Amino acid sequence: MKFFIDTANLSQIQEANDLGILDGVTTNPSLMAKEDISGEQAILDHYVKICSIVDGPVSAEVIATDFEGIIKEGEALAKLHKNIVVKVPMIKDGIKAIKYFSTKGIKTNCTLVFSAGQAILAAKAGATYLSPFIGRIDDMNWDGIELIEQIVDIYDIYGYQTEVLAASIRNPLHIVKCAEVGAHVITAPLSAITGLLKHPLTDIGLAQFLADHKKAAESK
Ligand code: E4P
Repeated sequence: MKFFIDTANLSQIQEANDLGILDGVTTNPSLMAKEDISGEQAILDHYVKICSIVDGPVSAEVIATDFEGIIKEGEALAKLHKNIVVKVPMIKDGIKAIKYFSTKGIKTNCTLVFSAGQAILAAKAGATYLSPFIGRIDDMNWDGIELIEQIVDIYDIYGYQTEVLAASIRNPLHIVKCAEVGAHVITAPLSAITGLLKHPLTDIGLAQFLADHKKAAESK
């Protein structure tokens, strides 16, 4: 399972990359707005900065919602760096644009996915990645992980090449559950990724080992 970090924050991206387990980055307009960026050119420059930190796919989302606008914006984003993946919303013109991009060899991430039906359409259009939002589904009292499992099963049956990129992850357990049901990729905040490190028995065991070593090293 690949690990993407879900942020536009350069120091968090650097920290995750330094762990040596990072495969890529996802951003969205809300995550970009949280950073100290002002102006359209600064937004584009920020994507390039992210690409200079991580050697892997970096999702950059289009703002346009009409076919021509999505194509124009997506082509400009794709030209920024070879690792840019154009993130396109799951709407009618978005599906048309994903089909267009797939014929042009431009990688796409179909975002704002909340159902298996949407997932089938995106795969048929040739999306590179599909982003079902599991946390937002859980927030509605439905089961986000069940949706990931359902989509992975459908994609397996038909041999679709689209990778299921579980998004809107809130905690480390979401990541483990995504691994259990076969998500190809997870994108998560740094806190959820580093949360996987934590176990009280590891802390207790390490403290004991260090104390025992100290005793042995200091004894004559
Ligand atoms: C990433 O691709 C998504 O935009 C992101 O995971 C959404 O997360 P949220 O539901 O926490 O905003």
